[in-house]
Amino acid sequence: MEYRHEPVMLSEALAYLEPKSGKNYIDATLGGAGYTLALAERIGTGKVLAIDLDELAIANAEELIKKRKIKNLIIANDNFANIEKIIEEKFKRRKIKFSGIVFDLGLSSAQLADRSRGFSFAADTPLLMNFSSAQGGELTERIVNREKETELARIFREFGEEKFAWPIAKSIARRRKEKPIRSTGALVAAIEGGLPKGYLKKSSSPRHSRGGAGIHFATRVFQALRIATNDELGNLRRALSAAAGIIEKKGRVVVVSYHSLEDRIVKNFFRDEAKGCICPPQSFSCSCGHEPRLRIITKKPLVASAGEIARNPRARSAKLRAAEII
Ligand SMILES: C[S@@+](CC[C@H](N)C(=O)[O-])C[C@H]1O[C@@H](n2cnc3c(N)ncnc32)[C@H](O)[C@@H]1O
Repeated sequence: MEYRHEPVMLSEALAYLEPKSGKNYIDATLGGAGYTLALAERIGTGKVLAIDLDELAIANAEELIKKRKIKNLIIANDNFANIEKIIEEKFKRRKIKFSGIVFDLGLSSAQLADRSRGFSFAADTPLLMNFSSAQGGELTERIVNREKETELARIFREFGEEKFAWPIAKSIARRRKEKPIRSTGALVAAIEGGLPKGYLKKSSSPRHSRGGAGIHFATRVFQALRIATNDELGNLRRALSAAAGIIEKKGRVVVVSYHSLEDRIVKNFFRDEAKGCICPPQSFSCSCGHEPRLRIITKKPLVASAGEIARNPRARSAKLRAAEII
């Protein structure tokens, strides 16, 4: 199996992680192992703990370890939200300190290209969209066919920032009464059925991947369903909170995100954890006892260079934020 993924903002992520020889690091999103291998090369006797939910990413990394005889890589096929449990399982009672953690969120190109996964509307495939086949493999289909119209509209609005959330939800509900929606093609047709003709004209069609509106009309709904299927925002919140407790002082937390919902979670988490007292402003004295846990390094998020975007269009929506544990 060939696992293709061109790492995004790799040199920037490394610059902010500052990997040091003999220190340990966590790559929370192994993917095609671009970040993991770069870290493993730089830390000598230190260890990289690399996590991914996707069995294909794990199989690819295991092959790389064998081929390249890598000794300092520990792999976990798990959800990064379980990071404390993963460390406990992998290192048992040995006390291990980590000097940095990196998250490169979302999907890899290999997952997007895998026709059995249903992540892309570019091909007509089963409606799965989960990062791990161990999750069951039917959740997206269940959301689309069983959730109430109001819940579908909420998912599309909150996770896709889709302005036509209601008419799309209604169109899906109408169509699934006639026949369950079981493929990406059927879902695209149902989304199309809920959109105004004028908007559709401006948006791109599957045959013309770019149109007046810039993105394909199904993009936001697909993003929303993927986020809901994998509880991506909940997992990110849980993992960031755990990471701030795991990384040692002066260690780094680096996050590369690809849409505003993820970026907002990272930005707000860093902002809140950089603060001391978080009592309401009208409080007479502090009762929260909140202590700052980190220092923000990137006041504004970093974006990929024009050169990288030209080479790798996936990089165009990437935003990198970094903080140091104090
Ligand atoms: C953009 S790719 C990472 C690419 C990687 N940095 C590289 O250089 O090849 C994101 C990866 O994160 C994984 N992932 C997403 N959510 C996850 C989660 N909650 N727990 C573990 N892995 C997750 C996906 O399966 C995917 O392989």
